[in-house]
Amino acid sequence: MSESSFYVTTPIYYVNGVPHVGHVYTTIACDVLARFQRMLGKDVFFLTGTDEHGIKVQREAEARGITPKQLADENSEVFRALFERFELTHDRFIRTTDADHSEVVTAIYQAMYDAGDIYLDTYAGWYCAGDEAFYDESEIDMDAKLTIDSGKPVEWVEEESYFFRLSKYKEPLLQWYASDPSVVRPESRYNEVVSFVQGDLRDLSISRTTFDWGIPLPTDPERHVLYVWVDALTNYLTGVGGLGQDDEAYQTFWPADVHMIGKDILRFHAVYWPAFLMSAGLPLPKQVFAHGFLISEGRKMGKSFGNGLDPFVLADEYGLDLLRYYMLREVPFGNDGKFVQARVVERNNAELADNYGNLVNRTIKMLGRFRDGVLPAYSAHDDDAQLIATAVETRDAIVEHMRVLAFDRALEDTLRLSTALNLYLQQTQPWKLAKDEAQAERLGQVLYNTIEGIRWVTILLSAFLPEATSRVLNALGATASERTFAGLSEWGSWGGGQTIEAPPVLFTKLELPPQPEPQPEGAQEPEVEGELRIDFEEFLKVEMRVGLVLDAVKVDGSDKLLKLSVDLGEEAPRTVVAGLAQSLAPKDLVGRRFACVTNLKRRKIFGIESQAMMLAADTREGGLQLSSFGEDVAPGTRIS
Ligand code: MSP
Repeated sequence: MSESSFYVTTPIYYVNGVPHVGHVYTTIACDVLARFQRMLGKDVFFLTGTDEHGIKVQREAEARGITPKQLADENSEVFRALFERFELTHDRFIRTTDADHSEVVTAIYQAMYDAGDIYLDTYAGWYCAGDEAFYDESEIDMDAKLTIDSGKPVEWVEEESYFFRLSKYKEPLLQWYASDPSVVRPESRYNEVVSFVQGDLRDLSISRTTFDWGIPLPTDPERHVLYVWVDALTNYLTGVGGLGQDDEAYQTFWPADVHMIGKDILRFHAVYWPAFLMSAGLPLPKQVFAHGFLISEGRKMGKSFGNGLDPFVLADEYGLDLLRYYMLREVPFGNDGKFVQARVVERNNAELADNYGNLVNRTIKMLGRFRDGVLPAYSAHDDDAQLIATAVETRDAIVEHMRVLAFDRALEDTLRLSTALNLYLQQTQPWKLAKDEAQAERLGQVLYNTIEGIRWVTILLSAFLPEATSRVLNALGATASERTFAGLSEWGSWGGGQTIEAPPVLFTKLELPPQPEPQPEGAQEPEVEGELRIDFEEFLKVEMRVGLVLDAVKVDGSDKLLKLSVDLGEEAPRTVVAGLAQSLAPKDLVGRRFACVTNLKRRKIFGIESQAMMLAADTREGGLQLSSFGEDVAPGTRIS
């Protein structure tokens, strides 16, 4: 690994289906990061691709009457085409059926085997083909035979299997987490992983005999195929020529700077993967960052839930820049976020078109009118010091935000600089200065500063909005180095004398999505993606009341759940099971009053019936905060 390099990876995507917008989300986040790191001058390697083996893909192929390889070829191609459509800048699109990959997998397996970490035994337990994961009973709703986290079915499996001695790596893993909390981010995910490993960390079954769509186990190839996650995780080594494929690339880029993943696959990346690497004697990644889900209609967007929007259609409808901007601006990276089309439109109109786009257009127009489009040279004026200081602070803040993957903050601050430039125009009023010959020099300073400010904002936005910003930078005549952070070293060091013409329209204002037609009385209202408003009557259907927490205890066998006893002003308190344990301790809850939804259908969680739901919001750090009330509100009071 070299200091001037940067290696970022996406998860590789299952090919049992075609991509949905959730897949694009991770890949866009990595693309923004890759572009940003290149702007900082780093030698970047950005890896993405498809995960093609395993029972899930084999079963889907069987259902469709084709071979798994045919299915993989077909769907992998759709992912590849999608990432091309989104103009993503990955350096390799890896497939786990690539020839070099099976060599690397064989090599890492052999190293784990040679370390004495693999043994033969029998696996008897639950397997979820949808997640390609083994689950304990404590992680399953045993009545429904569905996993609690993903809601997918589990099946009983009993077969001969090779095991990896995961238990041997319990202490080394805990030491790794303790050595640097930034190895797993955000903090809530770090806590989740540490408490999982502190628990009963059992050895992991890593081979299967009941199907054959996988890499044959190097030490027993006739009967066993390798567990798909050992195969899949190793793609991160193959991508940069690990284990003898390309030593130079490997030396430059390994260990990875960040494995970006969704929070559902945290355990594989932050527990199993580092343990495999330790066993094979290889360096560990610098960070695993787990982001939240894009949700729609209250559930994770995805094919199996039928609420995954087609990303090709979205790209045509909104354009690439706007989708990138929205996905990373709307929610802090790490938290779950709703994909609401009406919000996409609002952000486009207010932030991109009115704030930034309008700033660019009107300033360049003024330069045309007052100076024939010729940019004056920079000269300093005391009144401009504040604006320049804001620009410098913003630049430095953004480097820090991007270091911790706070994309939303980076965008918020950049927009604030754009607002400051709009304000600067309002205060200096160049249109008035232009009427007074004696103010010619001041007019030149104002025009220069605004355009220099536009260049700064544009560079700071360019990893997020590559299309629009390259049009602006072309119009400004910025050279390649004047489009990077090197070009932001000193205010006023750039330009003067060149002619600037207005770029083509940057952002067009969009209409809000159409409202649904009124339905005849009693008819089922269709769910409309992007529809923000509901009738008051509909709102009243949700019964929310103030609940006083009387007692709170951890649910046995779960890291996340608390069992609460809540006084809702009724004869007896209700039991509420809530996923709060990683953010809030019982002492933060007992004796306090919170907003509860009290008329939801009852649900069994971990075998306990939950009789209400508490309202919570994600914090920026990935924790949770509950909506609370003071002592002067009686338990059971309706919230409206
Ligand atoms: N093949 C495994 C990953 C192997 S990595 C060595 C896998 N594939 S997946 O296709 O099911 O999911 C890939 C990624 O997409 C995961 O990080 C998952 O969290 C993410 N997403 C799937 N649906 C999503 C949303 N609705 N929102 C955000 N990300 C989502 O898991």
